[in-house]
Amino acid sequence: MTRTILLTGPQLTSDAMAFAAAKGVQVIPTTPYAPAEELLQIITANQPDAIIVRQGNLTREMMAASSKLSIIAKHGVGFDTIDIAAAAELKIPVTIAMGANAQSVAEHAFALMFSVARQTALLDARMRDGHWDKATANGIELSGKTLGLVGLGSIGRILLDLVTPLRMKVKIYDPYLARLPELPNVERVTDFNELLRDSDVISLHCPLTEENRNLFGAEQFARMRPGSILINTARGELINTEALVQALGERRIFGAGLDTFHPEPPAADSPLWGLPSLVATPHVGANTAESRDRVGLLVTQQIIGFWEGVPPEPRSVVNRHLLDN
Ligand SMILES: NC(=O)c1ccc[n+]([C@@H]2O[C@H](COP(=O)([O-])OP(=O)(O)OC[C@H]3O[C@@H](n4cnc5c(N)ncnc54)[C@H](O)[C@@H]3O)[C@@H](O)[C@H]2O)c1
Repeated sequence: MTRTILLTGPQLTSDAMAFAAAKGVQVIPTTPYAPAEELLQIITANQPDAIIVRQGNLTREMMAASSKLSIIAKHGVGFDTIDIAAAAELKIPVTIAMGANAQSVAEHAFALMFSVARQTALLDARMRDGHWDKATANGIELSGKTLGLVGLGSIGRILLDLVTPLRMKVKIYDPYLARLPELPNVERVTDFNELLRDSDVISLHCPLTEENRNLFGAEQFARMRPGSILINTARGELINTEALVQALGERRIFGAGLDTFHPEPPAADSPLWGLPSLVATPHVGANTAESRDRVGLLVTQQIIGFWEGVPPEPRSVVNRHLLDN
């Protein structure tokens, strides 16, 4: 009998589709960001053997709607849209495409750092509006500055390599990091306030969990170095938007580069849009052809491999600690 994978979002890249087809597996995509009710109906009607979560949330009710569901794979790495505890109760492993989009996201974070430091988005908009701000524009050099990394996983590690030619000092806050890379410019901090105090640029590369929601609120912005920069390509919920708007509005910090927001997309009348020191991109850190190819193929291989008796790499099973209970 043909096995089916439901994909919440648009079609996978051609390599992934070819791999699925060669294995006789049918992939059923949905419309982009299908509403929850529609998704529930599609799952009930198709009884998929696996679900690839690309867009939107996957709830307990949706998982329970297919009696054949044996594995769930995140098309990416941010699994906060999936109820992993409910999946574990249903004995369903949830995998992520560990590292497959890391290069693209790290390059995007790197680009945002420069864009904020040199005001490129603002100056571009101003020029298109007929202004020539040569006399007034004032940027920041990144060379020799201190970069604070919150989370040193796949993305943080690549960003660390990217900034090395800039001779930046790097401070790492990651309570779960087993081993710090042995590099002369790298230091670990266990006190988050120290990271806030000492960093010229802070870049977020940790997952969103119940513990770190609103990691950056009014108190943390007050503790940041005056004139520093905050980059967020991780998850919008890590930052309290109101506190960020205030910090940028009062020019406590130099600027922010955001690829992720809470909510997404932000409202058309969000106070964020009135802030010239903000550089915003619409959650596109992983949107490159290279990243899509790697992620699409890896998730399809994880699912089909699992069915063929090849267990996914343990660290990519994000609810493994719950499944063991
Ligand atoms: N903008 C995008 O398009 C995009 C794409 C991919 C990933 N992301 C986000 O980036 C995050 C990081 O991705 P990754 O591939 O590097 O993940 P990863 O799992 O390889 O690394 C995450 C690191 O964060 C650390 N960590 C966990 N909780 C922490 C905490 N409370 N404080 C500090 N560090 C903590 C972990 O120990 C780990 O080293 C993802 O969880 C996802 O939310 C965004």
